[in-house]
Amino acid sequence: MNFPVLFVNFKTYREATGEKAVELARICQNVSRQTNKQVVPVVQVSDLYRVSKTVDIPVYVQRVDPVTYGSNTGSVLPEGLKQNGASGVVINHSEDRRTDDVVRRCLERCRDQKLEAMVCAKNPSEAESISSMNPDIVAIEPPEFIGGDISVSNAKPKIITRSRKKVSQPLICGAGIRKKEDVQKAIDLGADGIFVASGVVKTEDPENSIKKLVSPF
Ligand code: G3P
Repeated sequence: MNFPVLFVNFKTYREATGEKAVELARICQNVSRQTNKQVVPVVQVSDLYRVSKTVDIPVYVQRVDPVTYGSNTGSVLPEGLKQNGASGVVINHSEDRRTDDVVRRCLERCRDQKLEAMVCAKNPSEAESISSMNPDIVAIEPPEFIGGDISVSNAKPKIITRSRKKVSQPLICGAGIRKKEDVQKAIDLGADGIFVASGVVKTEDPENSIKKLVSPF
């Protein structure tokens, strides 16, 4: 993975589900090719196969479980993600919190399957403890700004600078990112990329929104 990167979280938005997930992933790929900047769709597990069959850019999924082949009804198996085209996974998003023990075991399973792992933290001290578990990427997202109009980089710049000091891996930041100025500021504060959702998926022109957000890279 080359940094900086814009990760686009499809969440379970209607505009980013099923065939619409494929359309949005194509848009991510088009912008990525046109601008030569890295844009990574983060899709629902149920859309992974159709998206990864359509685009050539790396595709991340929103969930993994620390299981192996066997009796684990309903779990998301790392081998299954790999075989269906995932490059990486997101672990411990604010909307899908996991215990430290589960995070550690997910990381082991991801290493085993050569899946990149981006683990989310909600504050700098959690970012530090996650960094010590040695994921590929740490993402810092204060939950109170997720989905809002105020970006983490404007409202709480210290969250990024403090995390930067405590994290030895590439640091991605997200929550409320909507404008290119939010991205520029996050990068100036030490972030290696951005995690965005509503600022792309819920906008009228996602292509234009992505172009705008990668312009400071
Ligand atoms: O994972 C990114 C996400 O939680 C940020 O959401 O809508 O504030 O860009 P949003």
